[in-house]
Amino acid sequence: MGSQSSHIDFALIGHQDSWKKITGFIEFLTKGKRKLTESQAAEVYSFIPPRAVFDIEVRSITGQTVRGSYIETFISPDELGLRYWKRNMFKVQEAAACARQLNAAVATLGGFTSIVLEGRDDSLNDGSYTKFTTGNTLTAAFIVRNLEKACRRFGKELGDQQLLVIGATGDIGSACLEYFSRKVKKVLLCARQQVILDALAAKLQRQGIAAQASTDIRQLLPQADLVIAIASSTIENFVPELCKKDIIICDAGYPKNLVFDLKGYFSDRLFSGGMGQVQGGYSFTPEIHHSFYHFPVECVGHGCLQEAVILAFENMHEPFSTGKGNITLEKMDRIYALANKHGIRESPLFNPLMAWD
Ligand SMILES: NC(=O)c1ccc[n+]([C@@H]2O[C@H](COP(=O)([O-])OP(=O)(O)OC[C@H]3O[C@@H](n4cnc5c(N)ncnc54)[C@H](OP(=O)(O)O)[C@@H]3O)[C@@H](O)[C@H]2O)c1
Repeated sequence: MGSQSSHIDFALIGHQDSWKKITGFIEFLTKGKRKLTESQAAEVYSFIPPRAVFDIEVRSITGQTVRGSYIETFISPDELGLRYWKRNMFKVQEAAACARQLNAAVATLGGFTSIVLEGRDDSLNDGSYTKFTTGNTLTAAFIVRNLEKACRRFGKELGDQQLLVIGATGDIGSACLEYFSRKVKKVLLCARQQVILDALAAKLQRQGIAAQASTDIRQLLPQADLVIAIASSTIENFVPELCKKDIIICDAGYPKNLVFDLKGYFSDRLFSGGMGQVQGGYSFTPEIHHSFYHFPVECVGHGCLQEAVILAFENMHEPFSTGKGNITLEKMDRIYALANKHGIRESPLFNPLMAWD
């Protein structure tokens, strides 16, 4: 089954997060005939229309197999900001049209592609056969499970920890907060828009939760024992020197939120969050794995993409995660249990430099 078939189980809509990956990707697309430098790639990349570029087969531990396609939006990693919002929105809508054309039963908006629609991804669920999900519920479930795992590894009791969430008012950030706010000693909230942030802090305080908010991360960093970085843009003013020595950091942004050199800081205390590992394995046709989708541990992938795979395994052709602020703890538990049923679990802890586990 592939892009020529009349029906596929799922479609994954995504974008690349670095020019290094994109040059490998272009080489793959041109079957090795074109090797572009990063600056040459930057000149042409965002003019390529969204399209399906390879097929994927994912195997469950139950013995089931589902098949789908990866649709690349060709959104430039340098153009994720507000300035390019209109252009990116068209690209996501064109990519969604590709998913409909392929008759995908369920399609997911990986990483930045759901942010572009600013919570209006319900508009994609217009009654057509293909149902769209953001994939954010499984992403949040993997983030919180992996942070708990990291705490156990370092002997940290959650009740003694102060948790900083960068991107606290976002879809995934607020779900992580909901999960941890009654488990940790205090929550520290960071985002750029003061009014929304203050409203969130006040809401938590009314519920008896110790909460402090600031748009200036430097005010919060010295207090943080745990960090979840889940913002929709790079955190330029994250100052590693302000952090406690035994801090644990989960960077779940795509592209990564934190850009300091890991070699100098926290290489064994910072992990890539929101990732799941597929025990049954997956394969790509044509084989592109080594060109761009590789990690220091086997068979891992983004939770947002894996959510569509789980829905396909379960024949749940529905918009499971939509809009902003609709993720509940019940939904996180439900999708996490279904993922586990199919052998998809939170990934072993790793970062771009090394695997921890
Ligand atoms: N690992 C995975 O599998 C996976 C899956 C899905 C998404 N993601 C990534 O997760 C991130 C968040 O996604 P989302 O859907 O939750 O986005 P979202 O709903 O748009 O939320 C983004 C949050 O980040 C805040 N923010 C943005 N820039 C900031 C900055 N420089 N400093 C502090 N706060 C900032 C926003 O608030 P303000 O606007 O007020 O700043 C908001 O609270 C994105 O990077 C996305 O690509 C990862």
